Amino acid sequence: MKILYVTSEAVPFCKTGGLADVAGSLPPALAEQGAEVAVVLPLYERVRDRFGSQLKFECYDYVDLAWRHNYCGLFSMEKDGVTWYFLDNEQYFNRGALYGQSDDGERFAFFSRAVVRMLDHFKFWPEVINCNDWQSALVPIYLKDDGVRDERYRSIKTVLTIHNIEYQGRYNPYVLGELFGLDAGWAKDGTILLDGDANLLKGAVLCADAVNAVSPTYANELKMPYFAHRMEGVMRRCSDKLYGVLNGIDMKLYDPRTDGRILKNFSAEDMTGKDACKAELQRMVGLREEPHTPIVAMVSRLVSHKGLDLICEVLHDMMELPMQLVVLGTGDQRYEEFFHWAAQQYPGRMTVRLDYNEDLSMAIYAGADLFLMPSKSEPCGLSQMIAMRYGTVPIVRETGGLKDTVQPCESWRDAGNGFSFANYSSGDMLHVIREAVYLYKDYPDVFGRLRQRAMSGDFSWARSAREYLRIYATITGQAWPIHADTFRAAEAPAKEDAPAEELAPAEEPAPIEELAAAPVEEPAPVEEATPAEEPTPVEESVLAELPIPDEEAAPAEEAAPAGEPVVEKPAKKTRKTASKSAGKSAKAEKKTEKKTEKKTSAKKGTAGKKKSAE
Ligand code: GLC
Repeated sequence: MKILYVTSEAVPFCKTGGLADVAGSLPPALAEQGAEVAVVLPLYERVRDRFGSQLKFECYDYVDLAWRHNYCGLFSMEKDGVTWYFLDNEQYFNRGALYGQSDDGERFAFFSRAVVRMLDHFKFWPEVINCNDWQSALVPIYLKDDGVRDERYRSIKTVLTIHNIEYQGRYNPYVLGELFGLDAGWAKDGTILLDGDANLLKGAVLCADAVNAVSPTYANELKMPYFAHRMEGVMRRCSDKLYGVLNGIDMKLYDPRTDGRILKNFSAEDMTGKDACKAELQRMVGLREEPHTPIVAMVSRLVSHKGLDLICEVLHDMMELPMQLVVLGTGDQRYEEFFHWAAQQYPGRMTVRLDYNEDLSMAIYAGADLFLMPSKSEPCGLSQMIAMRYGTVPIVRETGGLKDTVQPCESWRDAGNGFSFANYSSGDMLHVIREAVYLYKDYPDVFGRLRQRAMSGDFSWARSAREYLRIYATITGQAWPIHADTFRAAEAPAKEDAPAEELAPAEEPAPIEELAAAPVEEPAPVEEATPAEEPTPVEESVLAELPIPDEEAAPAEEAAPAGEPVVEKPAKKTRKTASKSAGKSAKAEKKTEKKTEKKTSAKKGTAGKKKSAE
């Protein structure tokens, strides 16, 4: 299978966010599974500066876009079994910043158009092109556009991976011809139009043969107004080709047994190194050196969707608990100011570094005990997986990939690998933080086993790569993959191919289901939400059958804050309650069967109720 992976950033060449981590790891993992893989990205200034001497000049050509006729150089590099191509145009890419420029639309239109133009010069003609986010969303659109004239492009199947639907590439439709070289028909038939804007991501969702969100839960969430940033209608219409392959992490790079970036190595079997890392972290950031006080950590961009409002609401309640708090990150001024101020109220117990600092982040992953991610939405999230690898137990809100990777602790039966809460509510968050802190303090054995389970999770890219290959196989009709376990999965009937179920982590413990009811007004599950009217394959139908543009614009009902999850619960819960709940679990651990039974049957009752309510 020949795969061309198109991305606007990739580690180690250039990075602004999680996309770069994925684009740096997934292609080599695909190659390891036997696929032929090339990656193509822009030749930014920073790539030229740091990797220029290792790049081989291949050739150059000219790219026609609207009235522009621009030079495009092609450089390459072999690494990790993958050919990395870099497209050179100094006017567009020889700049300090990757994004945020006033001509981003023109720059990435050039990039996408150049990818299609330069196909002839790559080492193979791809069977699949996997593009990512809005920056390369024009690729599947151009392939269809050119496809009208050139038969060769018809053979190429396309996948769009959505890492964050918030960024869609929206432009005034009047620039469609001038900027993107597309004729008005693309807007007239609605393909590229949403709420009156030319919307590149929407166009790509419709034109691609498959769309992948970066976790099973995110794939489902994208059909809801609360998460989809006005794209829910489009995502629902395309749910028959929507997948949710969970990202992985680089298990070799993030390995506490061998990682040279941390003070002392450790493993699930021997955690003494972690104690040293904790003491070192406390010294480094000015926390009191208390080995038995749990350190709660956050390494995050300080922006609203990371759920920081919840922390602002109950920070003082949190700090009443016997815990320390360390926060590392930069972002919106209001959060930076809040955290800076708050840290001054709790010297020796709370510390904040308004910085992006890889070394300190590794010291935190290795030295902290609990890792807090109360995100409002989180397509996948990588930090919680890294934290788990280093025995730092996550506390997360059940959204996107957080829900798919963290199973809540059930100490009475030694299950789960972290703590979670469903509603976007500071009271609920505080409740689980309290539970976690007291489990750590009062029941170290139970916490130790929880920590071990967190460390033993399989977050490898090999698993994700196999799922991607299955998607590629499905859309190209090829007999793939070669691995026994994936063969088994492939035996399932076609419709069961449905991403969410099959691709979800295998061992979700029961309570997840109960809690999964999260946002109260969540629309019906995937199958039900799929509108019946869309059976025709996209290639044939998309241009002909699209509804007139305005149909896509979210109706009034969608604009309402319907998906806003759930009623607030009272924020305050007494320490007594928390100790009680920790005590309860420990008692249960001592095999007070009666209680366990009661609890189980009570839970069953709740689950039953929820089901019938649906
Ligand atoms: C984006 C998402 C993040 C995801 C990453 C990689 O940065 O916000 O949740 O892990 O992309 O897919």
